[in-house]
Amino acid sequence: MEGGNGSQLFGKFQGFWCLGEYIPSIISFQTHFQALDEDIVIATMPKVGTTWLKALVFSIVNRHRYTLSDTPLNLSNPHDLVPYFELFLYANGQVPDLTSTIPSPRLFATHIPYPSLAESIKQSNTKIVYVTRNPLDAIVSFWYHVRAKPESSDWPLEECFEMFCGGEEWFGPFWNHVLGYWKQSLEKPNKVLFLRYEDLKKNPVSEIGKIADFTGFPFSDEEEGGGVVQGIADFCSFSNLKDLPINKTGILGWANTNTMPTNAFFRKGEVGDHLNHLSPSQIQRFTKILQDKLSESGLSLTN
Ligand code: A3P
Repeated sequence: MEGGNGSQLFGKFQGFWCLGEYIPSIISFQTHFQALDEDIVIATMPKVGTTWLKALVFSIVNRHRYTLSDTPLNLSNPHDLVPYFELFLYANGQVPDLTSTIPSPRLFATHIPYPSLAESIKQSNTKIVYVTRNPLDAIVSFWYHVRAKPESSDWPLEECFEMFCGGEEWFGPFWNHVLGYWKQSLEKPNKVLFLRYEDLKKNPVSEIGKIADFTGFPFSDEEEGGGVVQGIADFCSFSNLKDLPINKTGILGWANTNTMPTNAFFRKGEVGDHLNHLSPSQIQRFTKILQDKLSESGLSLTN
């Protein structure tokens, strides 16, 4: 199927929407990935703060290896340090050698919905850190992201909005994606940590503490008193990450055609930007759709 979302082959696979070019990657990942108990997987819908969460988790679990002045985050984009299964490691169906090259804990990322994760992730003690965001802000962020590519620069916001109303966005429907991980976080709180972008913005220090406890890298009293947590929050803040030279230039190359300018991952970094882009009636319409989809769960994503 042709879609406005980048105009590549786009359709439903295993119950979620994705670009056709990712299907061999997803199948290879499902078939070959062998999770280790120490692994940590960052799972998200696109444009909900994945880049930020990658930087945070990397900083938390590696803080005894690197100081913030010599952290690899100064020289590599968070996406290079915490690679996606489907967009990078297993791109085009390849099978990477992950046995010896990556220090423990291995950090990975994915946009794949929970039911379609490799079985070994579900069966092992691998931890999953999930972040979500008000989908109205994700719609706007996604629209800007797609438009960062010259061939999609005139994609109308209305078309993007309609796509999300129908649940036909990458790895969506958004509500199914969130519900899948949210339910797991309730049933298996040691397996899935469920976070929100808005909470991370409001109180990064306490959310960083949650991530550290959950991943098995809790902060000592000394670290807390000594400003280590605040240091990670400041280093990973939008303004600091955005201004690192490594994040200002360059192109991220993923599966074949889907390359992106690195700075497309650092746009505005605020809560509520949908109010500047979507009309009150669009907001009302999407909120109603979302409420209907989430009604049985008791979960709310728009407040
Ligand atoms: P906006 O487009 O609303 O600015 P992802 O990493 O999942 O692609 O999400 C990108 C969104 O997260 C963008 O949102 C981006 O600006 C924002 N972002 C990136 N780094 C951030 C940070 N350190 N703190 C807060 N927001 C950040």
